[in-house]
Formats: sequence, structure tokens, C-alpha cells
Amino acid sequence: MSINKKFAKQLNQQVIAEHEAALIYTQLAYELDRLSFSGMRDWMFEQAKEEREHAQKFAQHLLDRGERVQLGTVNVPAIKISSPLEAFEASLAHEEKVSELIRELARTADKVGDIDSRSLLNWFLDEQIEEESTVGEIIDRIKIVGTDGSGLLRIDQELGSRPDSE
Ligand code: FEO
Repeated sequence: MSINKKFAKQLNQQVIAEHEAALIYTQLAYELDRLSFSGMRDWMFEQAKEEREHAQKFAQHLLDRGERVQLGTVNVPAIKISSPLEAFEASLAHEEKVSELIRELARTADKVGDIDSRSLLNWFLDEQIEEESTVGEIIDRIKIVGTDGSGLLRIDQELGSRPDSE
């Protein structure tokens, strides 16, 4: 099925947005390393890897449909955090932004009748619900322990044992 040009452009923008997300998570990993939370750092690195896989899923869809993928400029905002709570709140804020981009893609797909992208976009809609929920739970747990060092280190250890996403 040929693809609507405006929709293809929006999908290409999502490839860039997912690479941006990967860099944001990498930046958060560096910040957490600076604060000596090595488990949370590794969790962020793992998340960055997942974001690159997301970018690849969108890119592959465009390529499979005979479209060009153009990366252009990938922007990373300056992120400075001073606590694990701030890091995960930044993560949640970014995921909420990405969720809206995916919903916008689904709206455009519906508008232009692009049935072929439906399963891809449904996968991403589900994935965003899961990602927001995971990060939301981590934030809740960090809030429960507050500034208690041993509690934070336990969460750090747990997050560091996150299985590979592959
Ligand atoms: Fe690719 Fe975390 O959304």
C-alpha cells in the first residue's frame, strides 16, 4: 500500500524522536553515574538501547514501504539532575511527550486510512502504556524511601539487575 507523504514524514520524525529519547536516557545515565547510582545508570543505558530499537522499528517500516529515512538533526536538551527522583521524573515527562507523538501518528493513520501501519502503531501504543507505568512505579518507590540512603541504594541495586531488553 502506498504511503501518504505527510504521514511518511511524521513517521520519519518519530525515528528522530526515538533517537532523541535514546540520547536523553544516555544523558540521564551519565548524570546518575555522577551521583554514584550505578544500578540506575545501567537501567538508563538499557532504556537507551530500547529507544534505539524503537527507532529501528519505525525506520524499518518506512524502508519496507519503499520510503527514505532521513535522520537530520537529533537534538538533546541539556539535562542536569541532582537526585534519582529528578532523573525518573525527567524520564516520565519525556515518555508522556513520546506517548502523545504516537497518539498523533495513530490519529493521522486513521485520517489517511493507513491500515498497514496499524499493528506497528498498536504495538507502540501498548509499549507507551507499559513504559509510563514502569517509570511511574519507580517514582512511587523512590518517593516512599524519600532521602533514606539505604532505601535508595536498595532500589539502585534492584534497577541494576534489570534484564537485557533483547
Ligand atoms: Fe520509545 Fe520510551 O518510548
